Amino acid sequence: MTTSVAFLSRQERFRSVPSTNDIVRNWLTAGTAEVCLAVAGEQTAGRGRSGRSWLAPEGAAVLLSLGFRPGYVAADRVWRLAALVSLAMADAAEEVAGLVAGRLRLKWPNDIVAETGAGLRKLAGVLGETEGIGTADPIAIVGIGINADWPRVRFPTELADSMTSLSEISGGRPIDREALLDSFLTHLEPRVLALRDRYFDVAGWHARQVATGRVVRIERPGGGVEEARAVGVDGATGALLVEDPASPGGECEILAGEIVHVRLAVERENVTP
Ligand code: BTN
Repeated sequence: MTTSVAFLSRQERFRSVPSTNDIVRNWLTAGTAEVCLAVAGEQTAGRGRSGRSWLAPEGAAVLLSLGFRPGYVAADRVWRLAALVSLAMADAAEEVAGLVAGRLRLKWPNDIVAETGAGLRKLAGVLGETEGIGTADPIAIVGIGINADWPRVRFPTELADSMTSLSEISGGRPIDREALLDSFLTHLEPRVLALRDRYFDVAGWHARQVATGRVVRIERPGGGVEEARAVGVDGATGALLVEDPASPGGECEILAGEIVHVRLAVERENVTP
């Protein structure tokens, strides 16, 4: 890796690991300072949200995890770490793939998606994991996988209608994963430094949201499913706000931990059940 970014305490590159989130968790548990970074060319046991697997062939995606010690963030604001990772990666991806600024959107809570002629497609997913939040020594691991130089002909058949890659949405342009990583870290650093000063880019986070104004399908743990119109996101709690005539004010909050999945339409992602 060529990047030298002052805010990183440790950065390592691996050809193949089970999961970069586990590498970083082990570092944090052993006392490594924030912000530490593990990058892998391939994961043999990559994890997605809600217990799903995360699939990407070697070299097709940028797969990385960051380790934080967020003692400077209130317990109910730790979600901002995952959000700023998504925002920094969206900025970097647009830059490296030559996309118009704002082309990539966030699907709550933290997926990066693109509107294509065939509908909404998932480009990246984020897995945030925490331990000890509210204690004197909280840790947070934020992993992100973004589909980079991955031609559609190599998409897994069962995911081909729900996923995309930067090379696909940029018309076949080759995507330099090193450049993407460098750009990501360049965009990430000021966002992390700002968070240490209690600042989070709420306006930028709002602006990227794709669900606002659209009907979402909310899947609850245990199988409950409901549909509601999303009206926005809450910059204080990180919640998705949806219309709810029964609630005071006509809307209610949905927190990421309360749901299995939010979909805008019939979608699937590069995860396996
Ligand atoms: C999701 O959308 O379900 C989250 C996917 C997160 C995938 C990344 S790839 C790097 C890091 N290591 C993992 O095992 N998962 C995350």
